[in-house]
Amino acid sequence: MSAAELDQALADAYPDPENWPFSTFDRSAIAGGSIACVYRATLVDGTPVAVKLRRPGLRHAMEADFALLESGARWLERLPPLSKVPARRIVRQLGSALLRQLDLAQEGEALAALRANLAEFRFLRIPAPIPGTSGPGALVMEYIEPLDRFAPGDFTNEDRRQIVRNVLQSVYRMLFIDGLVHCDMHPGNLYLAADGLVVLLDAGFVVPLEPKVRLLFARFFMHLSLGRATEAAETVLESAEHIPPDCDTDGFRAEITALVKETYGRTAGQFRLAPFATRLFDIQRRHGVAAAPEFVFPLMSLLVLEGMINDFDVDVDFQGEAIPTLLVALNRY
Ligand SMILES: Nc1ncnc2c1ncn2[C@@H]1O[C@H](COP(=O)(O)OP(=O)(O)O)[C@@H](O)[C@H]1O
Ligand SMILES: [Mg+2]
Repeated sequence: MSAAELDQALADAYPDPENWPFSTFDRSAIAGGSIACVYRATLVDGTPVAVKLRRPGLRHAMEADFALLESGARWLERLPPLSKVPARRIVRQLGSALLRQLDLAQEGEALAALRANLAEFRFLRIPAPIPGTSGPGALVMEYIEPLDRFAPGDFTNEDRRQIVRNVLQSVYRMLFIDGLVHCDMHPGNLYLAADGLVVLLDAGFVVPLEPKVRLLFARFFMHLSLGRATEAAETVLESAEHIPPDCDTDGFRAEITALVKETYGRTAGQFRLAPFATRLFDIQRRHGVAAAPEFVFPLMSLLVLEGMINDFDVDVDFQGEAIPTLLVALNRY
C-alpha cells in the first residue's frame, strides 16, 4: 500500500484515536497481497503483533468483477454442452467465499475456530487473534517468528514423511470431522517456526461445509480408499444435483467403477488427485450428471495441498492416511 492508502486503511480500521491499540507500528509492510498487507506492530502492553490491513476500496471493484462473471456464467449455461453445468451457482459460491475474504473480522473468527478445532495437533501453530483489537478492516494477531520457508531440501526423508502425514491429518480433520476447511494451504501460507512446528496462516479462505456435503465427501473418500468401487459410484450418484431423466445410469456406474478400481490398483504414491478429479468430472460431464457446487471446496483444499505433498513425499499413501479419521467421522452418523 502507498503511504496514503495505509493512512486510509488505518483510519478506516481505527476511527477513534482513543482506541489506537499500538505503542509502535512499523509502516513498512512485511507482506503484501491483493487483498491485504501485513505489518509489524507492538501492543500497548508490549506484545509483538502482526496486523493484517485490508486495502481500501476493494469491495466495490470485486463486486463489479463478480457481477461480470455471473453474466458470463449465464451465457455459458445457454451453450448446449454446458447447459447442465450450474455455472452461475458455482460463480456465486466462489464469489461469496472470495468476498468474505474482505471481512477481516470474519477471518479473525475463522482463525480462532481453526485454532480451537485443531488444538489437539501439537505440531501445528496457528496465530492467535488478539481480542478487542480487530474489525472488518484489520486483523491483529500474535506475531510468529522466525517463519521459515517450507523447502523439502531442508529435511531428512523421515522428517519429510512425518511432516506430510501431520499436515494430512490436520486436513482430514477439517474435511471429515469439523467441516471447516482451510482451502488455501499453499506454501505461502504454510511455514515452519523456530521450534520446528508447522505454522498455518491466513484464514481468509476458510469455508464451512454443510453436514450433508461433509458426509457424502467422507463416504466417497472411504469407498475410494478401500477400493469399494460400486459403492463409490453409488455415492457419486447420490451426491449429484441433477441426473437427466434419460441418463444411462448403468453406463455411468460402470465408468466410475472402472476409474475407482484402476485407482485402487496403483501403489499409494502413484495416486494423483488432479488427474483423478479430471477424469471423474469428464465422466460426469459426458453423462450430464451435475455435481453439487459445494464439492468444489473440499476438492480445492486437497488440490492446493497436493503440490506441496508431492514435493515432500512422493510415496505418501493419500488415501490410507485418511482411514482413521474417516472411521471416526462416519461412525458419528
Ligand atoms: N501472525 C503472523 N506472524 C508473522 N508473520 C505473519 C503473520 N501473519 C502473516 N504473516 C506474514 O504475512 C504474509 C501474508 O499473510 P497472509 O495472512 O497469508 O495474507 P494474504 O491473505 O495476503 O495472503 C505471510 O505469508 C507471512 O509472511
Ligand atoms: Mg496468504
